[in-house]
Amino acid sequence: MATRKIRVMGEECLTKVCREVTEMNERNRILVEDMLDTMYEAEGVGLAAPQVGVLKRIVVIDVGEGPIILVNPKVIETSGEQTGQEGCLSVPGKSGEVTRPNYAKVEAFDIDMNPIVVEGEELLARALLHEIDHLDGHLYVEKVVGTLKDVNYDEDEE
Ligand code: NI
Repeated sequence: MATRKIRVMGEECLTKVCREVTEMNERNRILVEDMLDTMYEAEGVGLAAPQVGVLKRIVVIDVGEGPIILVNPKVIETSGEQTGQEGCLSVPGKSGEVTRPNYAKVEAFDIDMNPIVVEGEELLARALLHEIDHLDGHLYVEKVVGTLKDVNYDEDEE
């Protein structure tokens, strides 16, 4: 297990448009493994490569139904609307209210570069859209209505 340092708001890597992955080589496989380890250790539901300082179009998500790995994801359809609290591992200790589509359909490639389609509603839709935003240098804080709130941490949290 190898975790990587999570970059936080203010760091330049979180503002960049990431480049497409052209092949799933060893380096990219290790990146995906490390991203999963990093996400699970931080107890996040998603992580995008720029959050660990790598400007590649890769995201990992787990909303409690097992890991989803998306390479070069593209949002191809959205519908409906949901409003709820959102947070981000790159904006530690904060959350804010964000309105997003309630449904999202995404085309991507899996870890073996096979084309896949992932669709989700509610939390999964929110996670898909939030993580894919990261690949274009966007953070959820841009979409927050009102102010960011402080999240109360457990005492054993750093
Ligand atoms: Ni995030």
